[in-house]
Amino acid sequence: MAMILSTATAIDRDAAVARAVAQLHAGQVVALPTETVYGLAANALDADAVTRIFAAKGRPAHNPIIVHVADLDMARRVVADWPASADRLAARFWPGPLTMVLPRAPIVPDVVTGGGTTVGIRWPRHPIMQAVIRACGFPLAAPSANRSNAVSPTTAAHVQQSIGDRLDLIVDGGPSPVGIESTVIDLAASPPRVLRPGRIDAQALASVLDEPVATGPVSAVGVARSPGMLARHYSPRARLVISSWHDDADLDGQIARLSTPRTRTYVLAYDRVPRETDGLGVAMMPREAEAYAQRLYADLHRADDTGADVIIVEALPEGMAWDALRDRLVRAAAR
Ligand code: TXA
Ligand code: MG
Repeated sequence: MAMILSTATAIDRDAAVARAVAQLHAGQVVALPTETVYGLAANALDADAVTRIFAAKGRPAHNPIIVHVADLDMARRVVADWPASADRLAARFWPGPLTMVLPRAPIVPDVVTGGGTTVGIRWPRHPIMQAVIRACGFPLAAPSANRSNAVSPTTAAHVQQSIGDRLDLIVDGGPSPVGIESTVIDLAASPPRVLRPGRIDAQALASVLDEPVATGPVSAVGVARSPGMLARHYSPRARLVISSWHDDADLDGQIARLSTPRTRTYVLAYDRVPRETDGLGVAMMPREAEAYAQRLYADLHRADDTGADVIIVEALPEGMAWDALRDRLVRAAAR
């Protein structure tokens, strides 16, 4: 198991950051908190170090990894071209949950870009992640710190459970406040395209860019530009079903038809919350999208921990604010 270092006090925090930086300088991988989800970080400019990320995750080596920076100079160093559109988005959304895909600079190793001509860059808001990147002086490549295709971790305990046996150090920065992965926008495409929806939606991006932003399935463009777009992703161990019901009786009928015992069924509901649980696992979810996102992965992890075979998720409300969550749930339900 990995060592988990607290950052609760200033002394703890300084010691944890120093330890993480020493390991990263030595070419090792370290799990670090970000405001979206926990990342599994390594020196983005060291191909051998980045290769260790793939080994720990069990991730296919052709998937590109996001490069995390702590200022605009660092961002410019890893790209071949820094367009005005990147300046606008950075001014409005960085540091924060937005990844921009741009033409790569030659110093970025192939293993980071999946051999492609572009690199995804993000300046995260989390103070621990920022402190580690600044002290390192080099950018950090970091995918989410979970086994490939599993639910992303939003706490240090989730990381420990998923891949703790494959790394030495997890820095605990508390629960990730955003709770779902960053929005990924491809600025190398024309028009710019959202490759993965997140808290920052296409409308907000378009209004800052002052031009249209494409969305929707990348299959429409021919090739999978982003593995976040692969159909099956973010899956819990249990089977996930998205459904709606009128009342408890209706839900009970649906559960009976799934032929799974109630005690091995877990329901995530925000509106028609079951009154009579009778052995059923129930999470009462927020009615507001940002609060819902903050909790979703923790509740999916909890459902798995209870040994549930089926997770029934109440279908989400309409509206763009829920797009990123709808996207994650549809992928988690795909098997
Ligand atoms: O919030 C996040 O983005 C978290 C934290 C740790 O920063 N990271 C994360 O990484 O979710 P990962 O590897 O699990 O997902 C990265 C997504 C993938 O869908 C990947 O395909 C896409 O970003 N991506 C990265 N670089 C890309 C590139 N050059 N071109 C297209 N897509 C890219
Ligand atoms: Mg991931």
